[in-house]
Amino acid sequence: MKDVSVGIIGLGNVGLGALAILDANADQIALKLGFRLKVAAICSRSVETGLNGVFRTRDWREVVNHPEVDIVAELVGGATTAREIIDGAIAAGKSVVTANKELMALQGAEIWDRAIAARINLAMEASVCGGIPIHAVLREGISGDRVVAIAGILNGTSNYILTEMERRGASFDAILAEAQALGYAEADPAADVDGYDARSKLALLAALAFGERITPSDIYVEGIRRITAADFDYAHQLHHTIRLVCMAQQTPGGLLLSVRPALVPQAAILASVVGAYNAVWVKGEFGADTFYYGRGAGSKPTGVAVVSDLLRVAREIRNGSPERVSPFAHERLGEYKPVSITLQHRPFYLRFRVRDRPGIIAELAGILASKHIGLEAVLQLPSETKDDLPFVITVESSSEQAVREAVEQMNQLDFLREPALALPIEPRF
Ligand SMILES: NC(=O)c1ccc[n+]([C@@H]2O[C@H](COP(=O)([O-])OP(=O)(O)OC[C@H]3O[C@@H](n4cnc5c(N)ncnc54)[C@H](OP(=O)(O)O)[C@@H]3O)[C@@H](O)[C@H]2O)c1
Repeated sequence: MKDVSVGIIGLGNVGLGALAILDANADQIALKLGFRLKVAAICSRSVETGLNGVFRTRDWREVVNHPEVDIVAELVGGATTAREIIDGAIAAGKSVVTANKELMALQGAEIWDRAIAARINLAMEASVCGGIPIHAVLREGISGDRVVAIAGILNGTSNYILTEMERRGASFDAILAEAQALGYAEADPAADVDGYDARSKLALLAALAFGERITPSDIYVEGIRRITAADFDYAHQLHHTIRLVCMAQQTPGGLLLSVRPALVPQAAILASVVGAYNAVWVKGEFGADTFYYGRGAGSKPTGVAVVSDLLRVAREIRNGSPERVSPFAHERLGEYKPVSITLQHRPFYLRFRVRDRPGIIAELAGILASKHIGLEAVLQLPSETKDDLPFVITVESSSEQAVREAVEQMNQLDFLREPALALPIEPRF
């Protein structure tokens, strides 16, 4: 059978990883497909490669319009040039493989509609959890089920920071600085530690799982900057740990979507996810629980996802059966409309830093009682100074709206050194 040819645009971490795998695995891929997957063109503005017989350019348009190229791999990232590349490829009748979570989370539904209209194939496995084939799971593996909830750890950098803080009792700032020096965290870490990267990924996963048009702005987001080593000590006393949890949950009122630090029971499977690893737990109505674990990023794991997408699309091209159903926005499933996270009920962990004086607990308890929130426990670890005393109150399962109102009122009290930190306590997934 005739070869299928690929054009790769962007030779960064992922592009170079995909290229190396295509080269090292070329014969095995040909055996699996029954034809060769050939790299016909590459575009990079700075990287030199030793590939012979491959067209090279610094202008992506020359890859998109190259007569031999059947599939364009967009591995540039961002939402501007990448969008032009994908639009250009679709206009030229080329299929597209992308690793771009940011673009697909923001504009994926529209891009899919254009791809379907042009009868080309589009694949985006690498866009969420690099090395975990979670798109294939949701679109194929468990597509016969009805997803009820997803909970995941979708950002390796913040998981690395949290689990190193936990392991070494170190501060957020110290571990972040170390992670930056080691190249694990960006110079501007906001996308990772403030939850925005994870939010793009959850938008994609929730869209795939629930068939809704979900965008990042539908998702409540809170980062990990306020977590301290002491929070881990308190969480451990409660037999919990702290993770940046990405949650999508179907309720009778609609979909609850959040990315936020939360207490997770130490016995829960998500608690055992440490370092830069990612994990996704999916609850189905019929098939119950399934769990997926692996590297969320990295040149080779993400390269595998890109190359596997290239195989899938190449097969579709040779079978003449473009994948014509968008994973986004099946209108009939409107019951999965995103709703405010304040509607959820959870037990909460409230951590305070106070200037100690008599009557503090009574005042805080009074505010909780006025909002009909049941106090569960008060924890206080030894402290060196009465001028900056940390302690924790846990409350019974309550509406998040009521907890937020209580916290807002508490934050007006003059003995607080900083606003109270409120973290939901998640059930054992
Ligand atoms: N890194 C991961 O582990 C990972 C995991 C999952 C998904 N992703 C996604 O994969 C994509 C690529 O990520 P990455 O980590 O490989 O990024 P990267 O290392 O920054 O690579 C991007 C490459 O694109 C090139 N580029 C930028 N503009 C270009 C243009 N106009 N024409 C040609 N080349 C251009 C850049 O090189 P020049 O500026 O020198 O041209 C750079 O080498 C992103 O969407 C990212 O979100 C990455």
